[in-house]
Amino acid sequence: MSFAKKFTTMKSLVLYYSQKGSNRYLAERISRELKCDIEPIQPIIDAPLLMMMGLYFGNKKLKHNPANFDRIILCGPIWTGQFIVPLRWFVKRYLNEIKQLVFVTCCGSGYEKKDEKFGHGLVFNKVRELLGAKCSRCQAFPIGLAMPVNKKEDGELMMKTHLNDGNFKGEIAERFEVFVRELEGSRVVNGSTAPA
Ligand SMILES: Cc1cc2nc3c(=O)[nH]c(=O)nc-3n(C[C@H](O)[C@H](O)[C@H](O)COP(=O)(O)O)c2cc1C
Repeated sequence: MSFAKKFTTMKSLVLYYSQKGSNRYLAERISRELKCDIEPIQPIIDAPLLMMMGLYFGNKKLKHNPANFDRIILCGPIWTGQFIVPLRWFVKRYLNEIKQLVFVTCCGSGYEKKDEKFGHGLVFNKVRELLGAKCSRCQAFPIGLAMPVNKKEDGELMMKTHLNDGNFKGEIAERFEVFVRELEGSRVVNGSTAPA
C-alpha cells in the first residue's frame, strides 16, 4: 500500500452555533485554517431564553451529512454551565454517524476557573460522557484571553467583548495556532484516526 493511501488527511466539518459572534468567528477561522467545510447549527426556534428554560424544538436539517466526514469540529458557547441544547441535540441526533468529534468553545470561564460551577471543564466532562471515545479533544478559548490583561476580571467588559480581527492577537492567537496545527497533524490511518 502506498504512503498516500495509508495516511490521508482527515476530512473535517466545522459546525457551530453562536449568538453574539465569537464562536462563529472561531469556527470560521478553524475552517479557513483547515480548509474544510463549515455550517451553522440552526435551531428551529432560536430563542436562548427558552432554550435555557429547557424548551427546545430541535435543529433545522443540516446541508452536510456528518457521516461523510472523519471528524466533526463542534463550536459553540457555554451558558449557565451547560453543554447548550443546540449542540447537545446535534450530538444525540448524529451519535451513530459521528466518527470523531472535537469540541471547541469561546466561553466566559477562564482556565483557572474551569472546574467551578459555571466552568468549561464541567461542560467538557458532559461532552465526553455523551460521546465516549469519539470525543478526541475539548478546547476552550476563554474570551478573557482577548481582553486587556488588567481587565480580565471585569465581568461587564467580558459580556461586551466579542472575538474579531482586532482582539484576536497575543495569547489567544498563539494558543489557536498551536491548536489548529495539532488538528492539521491528525491523520486517518487505514480508516481509523491517529495523531501525526
Ligand atoms: C446567559 C449567558 C450565560 C453564560 N454562562 C456562561 C457559563 O456558565 N460559563 C461560561 O464559561 N460562560 C458563560 N457565558 C459566556 C459565553 O459563553 C460567552 O460570552 C461566549 O463567548 C458567547 O459566544 P457567542 O459570541 O458565540 O454567542 C454566558 C453567556 C450568557 C449570555
